[in-house]
Amino acid sequence: MSRRDKVVFLAGNKINLRPLLKSDAGKLSRWINDPEVTQYLSVYLPMYEKEEIDWIENLSKCKPNDIVLGIETIAGILIGTIGLHGTNWKDRATNLGISIGEKKYWGKCCGTEAVSLIIGYAFETLNLHKVCLSVFGHNERAIRCYKRCGFKTEGCRKKQIFKNGRYADEILMAVFKVNKKTERRSKWIKQ
Ligand SMILES: CC(C)(COP(=O)(O)OP(=O)(O)OC[C@H]1O[C@@H](n2cnc3c(N)ncnc32)[C@H](O)[C@@H]1OP(=O)(O)O)[C@@H](O)C(=O)NCCC(=O)NCCS
Repeated sequence: MSRRDKVVFLAGNKINLRPLLKSDAGKLSRWINDPEVTQYLSVYLPMYEKEEIDWIENLSKCKPNDIVLGIETIAGILIGTIGLHGTNWKDRATNLGISIGEKKYWGKCCGTEAVSLIIGYAFETLNLHKVCLSVFGHNERAIRCYKRCGFKTEGCRKKQIFKNGRYADEILMAVFKVNKKTERRSKWIKQ
């Protein structure tokens, strides 16, 4: 596929966000079964490629309360997924989830850019007022990434998650629409 034919929903500098395709299921299944990735996620059961295909096929029916997009490098390599989940239209709040499954792309600012793009979309297109998330206390890279995007810690549920033989803290974080950092980062969305 030539660059001109690429499907892009939200355009960034290093990465773009695009709808997932059924053909992405193999990659998703590789990532979601990888213990190095899932140590940071709440999933704990084996996941079959067929389940990923079904999940991708169902995404179109979950809009607008759940919106999931693939994170693709500018060169067109799918490296992860990001989403807004369980959006509450009365309270105008949503929950962010992100996973970069291609480990060689960790720590290269792709996560920061993807989070900034999707919170810009949440605030400036969906007109939401708060984006929430939860993260394991030992996931320092994720916490730093979220702080860079303007998230603040709202609380900590001590020893909430049983993971790899021990209890982990669950940190609750959120970012509000009125936030100078968010306003600046949302300009990454190319007009
Ligand atoms: C969490 C995640 C989205 C972050 O995206 P990323 O592209 O790797 O992160 P970025 O490069 O944008 O930012 C990472 C920050 O952590 C720092 N960092 C990088 N590697 C680190 C490490 N091993 N330990 C601690 N901090 C680290 C970076 O320096 C940067 O912080 P800084 O801006 O203060 O310098 C991504 O790593 C990921 O998906 N990991 C696996 C699944 C996961 O953890 N999902 C989140 C569940 S809540």
